[in-house]
Amino acid sequence: CSKVKSITEAQETTVAQCILAHSDSVKGSILLIQAPGTPTLIKGTISGLTPGKHGFHVHEFGDMSKGCESMGAHYNPDGNDHGNEDSGHVGDLGNINAGNDGVAVVKKISKRIDLLGDRSIIGRGLVVHEDPDDLGQGDDAESLKTGNAGKRLACGVIVIRDSK
Ligand code: CU
Ligand code: ZN
Repeated sequence: CSKVKSITEAQETTVAQCILAHSDSVKGSILLIQAPGTPTLIKGTISGLTPGKHGFHVHEFGDMSKGCESMGAHYNPDGNDHGNEDSGHVGDLGNINAGNDGVAVVKKISKRIDLLGDRSIIGRGLVVHEDPDDLGQGDDAESLKTGNAGKRLACGVIVIRDSK
């Protein structure tokens, strides 16, 4: 009976959320949704941005004790160089694109982000940056670490959303 129950639970869709904070102007709310064995849907809106592209990553630590700086580097369980969503750090989510109203509508489907198992990103940090992410194509050392995405504008901890 307990075995049947655990299978049932594993087949449930996991829903996590992240409220982006630590900024006077940039605010956002992101949902992350994954059914077992399927890619993770990452969706939401972020407002208060300058128009254009902004780097967007999962960082190692859900630690905001020193603001967004204590979230560490990009989540990188495979020891990759920084890059794009397919082959860079697992936490590399590329760019989000804000319109002239400063609002970015986020909708990404990630094959490498997991909400379940030993590579779950629950409890880690999500960061939106001031500058575009060059996806590792910047031809300098920093490009292969951070994508030259610059200052951390806003961030939040990824948490399981309470099921009602
Ligand atoms: Cu980042
Ligand atoms: Zn990266």
